[in-house]
This record gives sequence, C-alpha cells and structure tokens, in this order.
Amino acid sequence: MTGHPGAGAGAGRDDADRDRAGRSGRPPGPADGPTAAAATGPAVPAAPVAPAAGERRDGGEGGAGGGGGSGAFVRFPGRAHDERTAALLGVALGVGFAVCFVTGVLSHLAQHPPGWLPWPTRPAGLYRVTQGTHVVTGFGLIPLTLAKLWVAYPRFFQRPAVRSAGHAAQRAALLPLVGGALFLLVSGVLNVARWYPWSFFFPTTHYWAAWVTVGAVAVHVGTTWAVARRVLGRHRRPPALLVPDGPGAAADAGPDRPGGPVEPIAPGERRAFLAAVAGTAALVALGAAGGTVPGTSALSAFAQRRPHQGPQGVPINKTAVGAGVVEAATDAAWRLEVTGAVDRPLSLSLDDLRTMRRHEAELPITCVEGWSTSARWGGVRVADLLAAAGARPGAAVTVESLQEGGRYRASDLDAAQARDRDTLLALELNGSELHIDHGYPVRLIGPNRPGVLQTKWLARLVVR
Ligand code: HEM
Repeated sequence: MTGHPGAGAGAGRDDADRDRAGRSGRPPGPADGPTAAAATGPAVPAAPVAPAAGERRDGGEGGAGGGGGSGAFVRFPGRAHDERTAALLGVALGVGFAVCFVTGVLSHLAQHPPGWLPWPTRPAGLYRVTQGTHVVTGFGLIPLTLAKLWVAYPRFFQRPAVRSAGHAAQRAALLPLVGGALFLLVSGVLNVARWYPWSFFFPTTHYWAAWVTVGAVAVHVGTTWAVARRVLGRHRRPPALLVPDGPGAAADAGPDRPGGPVEPIAPGERRAFLAAVAGTAALVALGAAGGTVPGTSALSAFAQRRPHQGPQGVPINKTAVGAGVVEAATDAAWRLEVTGAVDRPLSLSLDDLRTMRRHEAELPITCVEGWSTSARWGGVRVADLLAAAGARPGAAVTVESLQEGGRYRASDLDAAQARDRDTLLALELNGSELHIDHGYPVRLIGPNRPGVLQTKWLARLVVR
C-alpha cells in the first residue's frame, strides 16, 4: 500500500486524506500515528535534506505495492504548491486564454472571412480593439502561465504516472495544454518582435495551435472542475498540497519529511503571492498596451511600434524599399487601372485621381501584430470609382499592389466594404501627400480592416 514507514492506511492520497489534511490544516500523512510528535514541531518549511548514502527517501520499505513514490527523490519545499492557488491561477488563465482565443479567431475571420459571415465595416475601430486586446492579454498571460506551472509542477513527478483511464486522459491532455500554451505565447511574442526563427507560416500554425490548446484546456477544466469547486466554493474545504500524488507522497510533505513537514501556505501569504503574479502580469500587459492605447506609448516597452513614430506621424511595417516598389511607384507613367466586370474600364493618372471628388475619413491603421493608431486620410471613395467605371451595384473588388510577389500584394473588398462611404483610395495622410512608405501614389484604407489588407502602392482594381 505504501512505501512510507508508519504511514498505515493514510499514505495514499485519497479523498479521505485530503479531507483530513484540510481539517487539520497540514498536509496528510501519518501525523496521528507514531510519528505525530515530529509534526508538532515548528512549522518551518525547511530546505530539503540530502539522504544519507543508501538511504531511501520513501522509507525504503518497498513493501506490497510500495515501489516508492516519485517524490522519493524530488523535494518541493515551496509552500504555494496547493490546490487553491492552482485553482485561482487556473481561473485567471482560463479567462485570459478564452479572451485570446476569441480575439484571435476574430483576427482570422477578419483576414479570411467565410462566405457565411461577412466581416462588418462598423464599428470602424473594432479590429483595433480586438487585436490590441489579443496581444495585450497574450503578454499578460506569460507571467500567469509561468506562475501556474510553478505551482503545479510537483504533479508532473507523480507516480504511478497513470492510475486509470480517466487519469490517463487527464495526463495526456497536459502535453497539448502545456506545450500548446507555451508555443502560443512564445510564437506570439516572437511574431510581435518580428523575429522568425522558424520556417512555418506563423498565422496558420498559431491558429491551429490555438484550437489544440483550447481543446486541451477544455479537457483540463473538465477533469479538474470538481477539485476547483471544492477549494473555491462557498463552503470550501482547505486545499491539499500539490505534492506528487500516490504512494510515497507523504514523504514529500508530511511530518516524516527530512527537515520537517511542509505546511500549507497561509491565506495571507497566498494573497501576497497572487498579488505579485497579478502585478507582474499587469506590468507586462501595460508594456504591450503602449503600442495601441492612446496616452500610454511611453510605457510601450514590449510594443514593436510606438503609435506616433513614423513618416507623417504613423508607423509602418513594410517600407517601399523592402517591397521593391520605389521605381514603379515614382514612375511618371504610373496609372491606376480599373478592370474586370465594368462597363467602362478606367486608366487613371495621379492627376486624374486628384481631380475626382475628394473625401476625408478618420480611420485607424491596425497592424495584425497589435499596434495601432488613428489618422486622417484623404482621397477618392472606392464607391465613386466603381460608379464611374459602371460596375454593377453590389460588386466586389480585388485591390492589387505594384508589388510583384508576397502574400499581401492583393486584398479583397466584399460588396459592403466596397460601397462603404469611408473605404478610400487614399492620396493623403494627416493633411499631406502620402509618403512612399505609406503607399504613394495611392493606397487602400477602409474601416475595420487589418493592416495587412490595407494594400499599399496600388496598381489595379479588379471588379467582380
Ligand atoms: C503572448 C501571447 C500572444 C501573442 C503576442 C499573440 C500574437 C498574435 C498575433 C500577432 C496574431 C496575428 C497573426 C497574423 O495574422 O499575422 C495572432 C493571431 C492569433 N492568435 Fe495569438 N498571440 C498570443 C497568444 C495567443 C493565445 C494564448 C491564443 C489562443 C488561446 C491565440 C490565438 C490566436 C489565433 C486563433 C490567431 C489567429 C491566427 C490567424 O490569423 O489565422 N494567441 N496572435
């Protein structure tokens, strides 16, 4: 039954043990047996003590079914490894991951709208809010995830590794849960830093990793729900320590532990620990928020762009040199073609566009990487151009750039986006002619669109 001396029936951590641990305010173990005196000593979580040569930390019995607990050779002296701390962090992580998942899926839908769900043009700043929230929450999740892993890691050493089919499912879900969460956080941060030490396409991999992780989160929540309710509920019982479960476990926390017992964390201590974690998460999130929340740019320690730094007071990601379009964009022979399903194909010079009815709109430019800023754009409405070309009402448009290649050299406007009064072919930004890095001679700007779809250095509109 157990590999613990004097443990009697209590060394295996079944519910009765947890119960007892709760009521006594100390971890389960043989404290009521012959070794009780040891447990009444000072409640100091002493440092692990090395076993004497040849001594087994689980008591060395190896009796029937004993086999030694995993905890036999690993010690977890920290006091915050308990169910309540783990459950509270789990709730915060669950909320944070849900926010990241929903806003991430919205980002995916904004970039790849399925036929059945057209991406709306209003509110004009919706994508700015959802993607800013995604990245800020993602950064805040980093300290929370690390804290949760630290609280829960003793359980990784639990032996036997698998006790039943349900337990096997619970443990199997840990791989996609922990692996997926770390992958999302690391790949997201590296993407924001624009460092790609990998060969896969980030959005696709990040997207599918999010589904796998969220599936694993659902399994994890399902399998830990009862414990969480028990330690967080109104009539809660004091939580058990998260020492490795199973035979030999008591040696890790109990009174026979070399150096003395590990006492459960006191509520005040737990509050201080959680406040430190929450404070760190808030600081990290604030460092990312500076890239998008007006007035906080001085704090944008982790933001890749500061909202008003860049040509004409607006940041850019891709320069004209980087896109290889300088020559074509500054060519005096440049013309904008309007072709496809139109009665009158158009070929317009920059001066032709300048003489058309001019419209202004205050619209955000929002990078998929989370930074954003609002700006004043002036130019020609796409709707006016379509009317001039004799496009049918309800036409959709593909907007093409002078760029010869690249994933974002073209973008689509569905019918609602094409006829929106603020969807412009912009010639001006913040009161002056468009800078070449912002898409001179003309670029697309529309409400509620990710930056990668606000195509620059336009060459052609193909009407469908
Ligand atoms: C530090 C944490 C994170 C950061 C910095 C981050 C960053 C990003 C960025 C920059 C994008 C836009 C990619 C693009 O379209 O080019 C994105 C998309 C996305 N993120 Fe995250 N992310 C983080 C965590 C998460 C988490 C925890 C989840 C889910 C639980 C998640 C789910 C998604 C999804 C579903 C997308 C859409 C991918 C697509 O466009 O296909 N992210 N993320």
